[in-house]
Amino acid sequence: MEVLIQPLNRVIQVEPGANLLEALQAAQVPMSYSCMAGRCGTCRCKILDGEVLDGAREQQRPLDGDEGYVLACRTYITEPCTIEIQEPDEIVVHPARIVKATVTSIKDLTHDIKRLRLKPAKPVAFSPGQYVQLQFTPEHVRPYSMAGVCDDGEFEFHVRLVPDGRVTGYIANDLKLGDPVRVSGPLGSAYLRRKHEGPMLCVAGGTGLAPILSILRGAISDGMRNPIHLYFGVRSPRDVYGLDWLAHLAQAHPALKVHVVVSSGGDPATQRCGLVTEAIEQDLGDLTDWRAYLCGSPPMVESTMLVARRKGIAPEHVYADAFYTQG
Ligand code: FES
Repeated sequence: MEVLIQPLNRVIQVEPGANLLEALQAAQVPMSYSCMAGRCGTCRCKILDGEVLDGAREQQRPLDGDEGYVLACRTYITEPCTIEIQEPDEIVVHPARIVKATVTSIKDLTHDIKRLRLKPAKPVAFSPGQYVQLQFTPEHVRPYSMAGVCDDGEFEFHVRLVPDGRVTGYIANDLKLGDPVRVSGPLGSAYLRRKHEGPMLCVAGGTGLAPILSILRGAISDGMRNPIHLYFGVRSPRDVYGLDWLAHLAQAHPALKVHVVVSSGGDPATQRCGLVTEAIEQDLGDLTDWRAYLCGSPPMVESTMLVARRKGIAPEHVYADAFYTQG
């Protein structure tokens, strides 16, 4: 049967019941993917016409009122249909793998955030903004976004400690320098779009600063000249961190404007107080042709996404990494 691939306007022949990602690969259609197991979201695409079997939910998609997004690696073709794939010029393929790493540094960034550095036994290819799964022991496993790779090839992570958290408690109290950690990945689709030349809106909530730092570092090291507005939202003044790094990046990239916004307990004389959504509403006008990178808690990401869309950013140009802080 025929499947029409947009925006390439290309028809491929597919056997009934074929896996969509495998069919795209067999037809040499450029397509981003990583985990191939429905976990990372990198292979997300949209059903424009017809129905497919969504293996992740075991139902035909799209449903009424559904935006029609599916994961190609978990989707099976059951009838002729039209699929829209992500920007074909921004394809990222870093097959997920498992690499051993060693803890080289554990330091306090704030009262409840630690910076963790790991030295991998082998280099891991990833795109700025992606995340990995860290396995400290078989019982202590969590996904964390990379803040980037340091000059010496080490990975950096920012870990918020949760009161009575099982895994973060382990990191705070038991993890030692030299301990082994299994790193699986990379995962995630909220990665830097390197071919985009227009303005970028980067919004980080709390430790969402880690992937945003990775995106900024990647953009600057690639020589991108895009105007960038970074909004870093924290709950209270003692949650602010990373100002030295941000000042350093702003020096390297004069078109980077950093806005730190404190939602409660801030001093209006010296700090911007309120919500990042309010700050964006006040500061920025029409955002058509911008790209947005949003990393933080689901409520923050959702409310910022609404503001971004209302101001004109196309939904497919909003790249979001929403995470619950897990203990
Ligand atoms: Fe499909 Fe990861 S490659 S969700």
